[in-house]
Amino acid sequence: MSTTPRPVISSTGLFTPEDVITNEELVASFNTYVERHNEAHADAIAAGELEPLQPSSVEFIEKASGIKARHVMAKEPVLDPEIMAPRWEERSNDELSIMAEIGVKAARQALERAGRDPQDVDAVLCAASNMQRPYPAIAVEIQDALGIDGFGFDMNVACSSATFGIQTAADYIRSGNARSVLVVSPEVTSGHLNWRDRDSHFIFGDVATAVLVEDAEIAPAEHWDILGTKLKTVFSNNIRNNFGFLNRAHPESAEGPDKLFVQEGRKVFKEVVPMVAKMIVEQAERLGIDPHSLRRLWLHQANTGMNRLIAQRVLGHEASEDESPTVLDSYGNTSSAGSIIAFHKHSDDLAAGDVGLICSFGAGYSAGTVFVRKMA
Ligand code: COA
Repeated sequence: MSTTPRPVISSTGLFTPEDVITNEELVASFNTYVERHNEAHADAIAAGELEPLQPSSVEFIEKASGIKARHVMAKEPVLDPEIMAPRWEERSNDELSIMAEIGVKAARQALERAGRDPQDVDAVLCAASNMQRPYPAIAVEIQDALGIDGFGFDMNVACSSATFGIQTAADYIRSGNARSVLVVSPEVTSGHLNWRDRDSHFIFGDVATAVLVEDAEIAPAEHWDILGTKLKTVFSNNIRNNFGFLNRAHPESAEGPDKLFVQEGRKVFKEVVPMVAKMIVEQAERLGIDPHSLRRLWLHQANTGMNRLIAQRVLGHEASEDESPTVLDSYGNTSSAGSIIAFHKHSDDLAAGDVGLICSFGAGYSAGTVFVRKMA
C-alpha cells in the first residue's frame, strides 16, 4: 500500500580540498602585495595622489571573523603576490569540470552512506553561489558522471543555495515527482573572492557538500525527518557580485575588482542577525517546537559573532559549541555549504528523537530553515 510521500534527509557527503591556507600564510602574501604596490606607486603616494594600501593582520582576522584557516582548490596561485587568484589547467570538454568533479566526490559519499545505488536517484540539484558556466548545467554533468537516469538543474541563492535546494527537493518528493534527490553544493568560493581586498580577503574557503533527500519509505532506517522548511528573501545590495555574462570585465582588469564579491560587512551583520533569529523563532512556533528546546543549531558559517548572536536569540542563552558547532575556524565561510558541513560533521552523536535546525543566510538577502528530527 503506498503512503503519502514524506521527505527526509537520508545522508550527507563532504569533499574537503587538501590545500590549506592559514591566516599567517594569507597575511604574509597579502602584505607582500601591499609592500610591492606601495613601492611601485611611491611617487604618487608621496605626492598625495594615491592612498597607500594598508597591511592586513592575523589578529584582526581572528577577532573579526573567527576564521583561522581555509581549504582551497589551488593554494600556490592564490598566495603568489603577483597572481592572488586561483588558477588551474584548462580542461577539455571531455573532462569533468572542476565544480562537477568535487560535487561528484561529495555526492558519492552521500550515496554510499545511505547505501543508495545512483540508478535509484531521480534528480540532481546543483545548488551553489557561483556556477562555472551557464550550460550545460553542472547538475546535468554530475548526473551523467554518477550514472543517474532522471533530471538535473542548477540553482543559485548565494549562501542559502543548499537550504533552498533541500526545500525544492522536499517539494519534489511531496508532489510525487521524485523519490530520491541529490542536492549538491560545490562551492569554489576562491574564484569569486577578491584576494587583494583587505576587508574581505580572509573570508572564504572551498568545499563541496551533498545532501540526499528521499521519501521516508525508501530511506535507510537511520535518517532525519524534515519537520518543516521555510525560505525568505529580501532584496539588498549589501552583499553583491556583479560578475556575469552581460558584464564581462576580467577580474584583474582595471574595472574588474568590483565584479567579484563585495559587501558592507557591518550592515550585513546588523540587518541579517535580527531577520534570521526572528524567522527561526516564528517557524519553530508554527511547527509547535519550543526554540529553547532545540538540541543543536547547524548555522551558516559566516562569522562567529553572527552565529553567537543568532544562537543566543533562538536558544535564550549563550550557546555552547555542542549546541551550535562551528567549522568556520578551519573552513572559513564556504557559502551555502557551511551549515551542511556543520551538520555532516556534528550530527552522528545525537540521539533518536533529538530535534535540530539547519539554517542558512546570506546574499539576496536570503535565509532558509530546515527543522529536522533524528530517526533511528
Ligand atoms: N586587517 C587589519 N585590519 C583590518 C582588516 C584586515 N584585513 N580589514 C579591515 N580592517 C580594519 C578597518 O580598516 C577598520 O579600521 P578603522 O576602525 O581604523 O576604520 C577596522 O579594521 C574595522 O573594520 P570593519 O570592516 O568595520 O570590521 P568589522 O569588525 O565589521 O569586521 C567583518 C568585518 C566582515 C568580519 C564583519 O563585518 C562581518 O563579519 N560581517 C558579517 C558579514 C559576513 O560575514 N558576510 C559574509 C557573507 S554572508
